Amino acid sequence: MNDNERNRNLAALISDKIRREGPMSFAQFMDMALYHPRLGYYARTGDSEDYFTSVDVHPLFARVLAKFIRLEWEKNFREGPRFTVLELGAGGGKLAGGILSWLSQEARGCFERVRYLVLESSPERLKRLGKLKKEFGPRVEVLSDPSSLWPGSLNGVVLSNEFFDALPCHRVVRRDGRIREIRVGEGFKEIEAEATPPIRSFFDWLGAAPAEGCAGEAHLLAREWTALLARALARGTVLTIDYGYESAELYSEIRPQGTALRHLRHQASRDFYRDIGLADLTAHVNFTVLSKEGAEKGLMSRPLVSQSRFLLDLGMEEILRSASESPDARTRLRASSAAKTLIHPEGLGGTFKVLLQNK
Ligand SMILES: C[S@@+](CC[C@H](N)C(=O)[O-])C[C@H]1O[C@@H](n2cnc3c(N)ncnc32)[C@H](O)[C@@H]1O
Repeated sequence: MNDNERNRNLAALISDKIRREGPMSFAQFMDMALYHPRLGYYARTGDSEDYFTSVDVHPLFARVLAKFIRLEWEKNFREGPRFTVLELGAGGGKLAGGILSWLSQEARGCFERVRYLVLESSPERLKRLGKLKKEFGPRVEVLSDPSSLWPGSLNGVVLSNEFFDALPCHRVVRRDGRIREIRVGEGFKEIEAEATPPIRSFFDWLGAAPAEGCAGEAHLLAREWTALLARALARGTVLTIDYGYESAELYSEIRPQGTALRHLRHQASRDFYRDIGLADLTAHVNFTVLSKEGAEKGLMSRPLVSQSRFLLDLGMEEILRSASESPDARTRLRASSAAKTLIHPEGLGGTFKVLLQNK
């Protein structure tokens, strides 16, 4: 199917649903646009040309995360029988592959004992994850949904990079002190409606909302995922890497239109209803949702830090030094320019935040 057909078919499918059932929530729209199993953005084959993540920048990123995993194992799990790493939204497996390769070379004890679960919902990406099993054997398990993550079933590390920003979210606007929902009506016209009870109770629970006259997002699914992870984890750490803010900053009047964005070929815009199925849709993460829900379910958060701080604290410079010892000048140059992109406060290093939560 070519891009035009994908776009036409998916737009028709969504329009038809709206015509039959009335305006849909933005979360429903985002869910269909991104995750329709055949026509959605994440059902497309090949790697994205619309965004790149830290994982794509250089294998250095995976090596630093592998070092984090080794440290967690040494500190808390070396004596235990089982150590599990669960990676949420593992994409095509580049990060998992990089982590497992590094562990197999630099932390054999941890590598021998780890059970590495990759969770991914995109059928196309799930196919690509299969090759991790070939390379790293039965220690890798591929999950297409979280149904096997029983309460208390995980001892180890849950990690994600750019998973939470890809979760469908609701959009709202505040008028005369009241939260109104932005829904998607016929002809993809946005309609303001009374907020549904789940949205109202989300903001009541959070104790924060967009400033007067400003739009913003309600991260109901992020809250559900945090509760699920808190339940599934018996003991260990949740490591979340993503862009976003805490509530006060996220909902301030300097962001009158909220943070939901459409990304197409590295261009960001708010034309959510153009190129449906061909463009990525995202929203900044509300880290307060993760830390508050986590705290209520037994996951204690450490203060949010920048990716740059996190990578440097873990000894990224030392890992970079060994990459810089390559006899090949191009390899050395690539590593040092990637390190700048990953660490620089005006690059990914400052935009991305790291939240660590322990149980
Ligand atoms: C922005 S991509 C990030 C991919 C990868 N972590 C990286 O850093 O390159 C988000 C990924 O999360 C996956 N995803 C979104 N919702 C999911 C869900 N409910 N269950 C499993 N995977 C999901 C998407 O299919 C996609 O591969």
